[in-house]
Amino acid sequence: MIVSTNKLFEHAYGKYAIGAYNINNAEQVMGLFRGNMDSKASFIIQLSKGARAYTDTRLLEAMIRAADEIFPEAVFAVHLDHGDEETCYDCIDSGFYSSVMIDASHESFEDNIAITKRVVERAHAKGISVEAELGMLGGVEEHVAVDEADAKLTDPKEVEEFVKKSGCDSLACAIGTSHGAYKFSGGQGLHFNVIEEIAELMPRFPLVMHGSSSVPQDEVERINAAGGQLKGAKGVDEAQITKASKMGVTKVNIDTDGRLVWCRVHRESFRDNPENFDLRPPGKIFMAEYAKYIAHKNEVLGSAGQLDAVREFVK
Ligand code: G3H
Ligand code: 13P
Ligand code: ZN
Repeated sequence: MIVSTNKLFEHAYGKYAIGAYNINNAEQVMGLFRGNMDSKASFIIQLSKGARAYTDTRLLEAMIRAADEIFPEAVFAVHLDHGDEETCYDCIDSGFYSSVMIDASHESFEDNIAITKRVVERAHAKGISVEAELGMLGGVEEHVAVDEADAKLTDPKEVEEFVKKSGCDSLACAIGTSHGAYKFSGGQGLHFNVIEEIAELMPRFPLVMHGSSSVPQDEVERINAAGGQLKGAKGVDEAQITKASKMGVTKVNIDTDGRLVWCRVHRESFRDNPENFDLRPPGKIFMAEYAKYIAHKNEVLGSAGQLDAVREFVK
């Protein structure tokens, strides 16, 4: 059942975080739904602009509709990840999405507000909620590469004015993470003081943490042992994710970890079965392994075991 993102936030705020997982293909969709059902969690399935262009948006959306039928117990929201204005309008008008993200964080404070406000007006008219971004994460986003030196933590003092003027429903905050597999290679961590300050100024307002993959070290080692070259890859400590999930971080975005599972499974499978050229054996393993990863992550987020309560809550 596709539900409102805001409703999921209302249920979770301060108690646990909802996993927002990126998908690109059928195997990811199957593993994602299976993992959430195994761990009895609600979740957010998110599509980036790149994912929408990878095969065809209609195919991706049809896969989600089909998974909704295959897993009738599932309770989830559909979200556009890192949208520009045009893609946001496309998703709003399609009627399929629960929420969109307008990422105008690379613009000036005033322009970010103005762009976000325009998207909010169109989205709210259709009952769709909007995630905005304030501050800048390091790493590579789809339409903008941010140098680590230019990454800018969210200034808590700007948050209230931004939210009031733009009307956004949730806010992606830069709290130390970055996208991709190389985050805290120097042993850095989350800036809890920033989360705390924002949560104090904006009680019960859902915060979003992008760049939340934990880049499991056993995964990196297995990939490298099977021919990969991911030197120094490092992610967010899981204990820190759990702590943030109880402090107002209500949506936790994860993409890279899923790619690592995919990479490890396929590298090992073809290394160990050099005569094989069939896509299904590694595909089968990937779906099961990705489901296992999702179930584990939902334990970390605290969303595991909440599914029945969420279903009652959104009725
Ligand atoms: O934050 C970006 C997500 O990891 C999506 O990645 O734009 O390559 O699909 P993508
Ligand atoms: P990761 O690269 O840490 O998985 O972050 C994904 C993300 O923020 C998607 O919006
Ligand atoms: Zn992101």
